[in-house]
Amino acid sequence: MKKVFPVLMMIALLLGLAACGGKTETPAETTANAAIDTEAADEPGETAAEPADAQPTAGAKTLVVVFSATGTTKGVAEKIAALENADLYEIKAAQEYTDADLNWHDSGSRTTLEQNDKSVRPEIGSERISLEGYEKIYIGYPIWWGEEPRIMDTFVESYDFTGVTMIPFCTSGGSGVGRSGKNLADNAGTGNWLDG
Ligand SMILES: Cc1cc2nc3c(=O)[nH]c(=O)nc-3n(C[C@H](O)[C@H](O)[C@H](O)COP(=O)(O)O)c2cc1C
Repeated sequence: MKKVFPVLMMIALLLGLAACGGKTETPAETTANAAIDTEAADEPGETAAEPADAQPTAGAKTLVVVFSATGTTKGVAEKIAALENADLYEIKAAQEYTDADLNWHDSGSRTTLEQNDKSVRPEIGSERISLEGYEKIYIGYPIWWGEEPRIMDTFVESYDFTGVTMIPFCTSGGSGVGRSGKNLADNAGTGNWLDG
């Protein structure tokens, strides 16, 4: 009898294990497991998903727009963009300005002719930019004959700056911003233009 009892116990144990091996999860157990997983996300060290309203709000971006024939104003624009964590958009002329075009000693050069005629609007070659989401725009250019290059007028007349703070900046051989900022504001017709 002493030898039979352990054998019976062993058989009972094996039958019990066989029954557990084929076990499938019930819907109730699945739900419980899901609840445990959710709680795990609240544990210290777990990063909860960012709520949607924690994202930067639309309209909070800054843009630096620049036209630069010989690179000086572009260098300034890049510094502003870095300081302001802003995007940079370069206005490029569809027909690039050559050295001969930029010769202000020549009364017949392209730039002299353009600057002498306020109605000229040189074509922009760079791809159009969407201004959606920008609340502040720095707009830079070289001073040509005391004013903004006419291609800047092409740019400001092509966009709607409603609700946007516009900040002109320029480089020159010594002249100030002069009336260029006001010219741009007048031609744009929209935007909150600050002094350059
Ligand atoms: C056609 C032309 C006209 C210019 N007129 C003036 C001017 O009236 N006053 C001035 O101080 N500099 C004048 N400059 C010098 C530029 O404003 C200066 O070199 C500027 O920094 C160039 O910028 P960029 O390299 O971004 O094109 C003129 C330059 C050119 C090419």
